[in-house]
Amino acid sequence: MAKETVTERFAGSALTNDILEIFFSESRLDEIVATLGRQISADFAGKNLLLISVLKGSVVFMSDLLRHITIPCKIDFISSSIYKNKTTAQPRPEITDILQYDDISMFDILIVEDILDTGRTLQALSEFLMEKGAQSVTICTLLDKPERRDPNTTIKPTYVGAQVANEFVVGYGLDFDEKYRNLPFIGILKPDIYRQ
Ligand code: IMP
Ligand code: MG
Repeated sequence: MAKETVTERFAGSALTNDILEIFFSESRLDEIVATLGRQISADFAGKNLLLISVLKGSVVFMSDLLRHITIPCKIDFISSSIYKNKTTAQPRPEITDILQYDDISMFDILIVEDILDTGRTLQALSEFLMEKGAQSVTICTLLDKPERRDPNTTIKPTYVGAQVANEFVVGYGLDFDEKYRNLPFIGILKPDIYRQ
């Protein structure tokens, strides 16, 4: 991949100093999000679109994507955490906050996610929203790590910004230990940061 660049205002920032390599610059992310916005605007024309952002990682992507969606839509937020059940050692996501819209039966829902990893989170959220009676549930993820998919999941994202290899990325909403969400680009950290 071509060397991507640091956004100028972040040059020399303590956060940038922890970054080993940038995978997606701010301008590259702008292009990716604009393309997704155009596709979604065309595909959902005439539908009753509700965008649901998965907290917290997708808030940056959501706020940019929204401004590239040119058809009427509403927004809401949901949160889910990977809950490790110690007795079975089987990690499963737990939906910790539900929507403002209690009745979602009139909506075509687009789940907006930062990254699709094992797929367990989106599987659980899609099932939860379908069981609540949504007209339809479609997935839009900024990044996809297909190598990491749990074979027990069946979800297929309709909109994918870009695929990434099996590496832990930060920035543009994605965190490591709640840090780095405010970086406007996406990259990987220096190995000693992960070891701390
Ligand atoms: P999944 O249920 O394994 O697909 O989990 C997806 C969630 O794990 C994402 O919404 C992120 O919050 C988190 N995650 C997975 N991979 C990364 C990464 O590379 N960087 C930051 N967060 C990640
Ligand atoms: Mg997330």
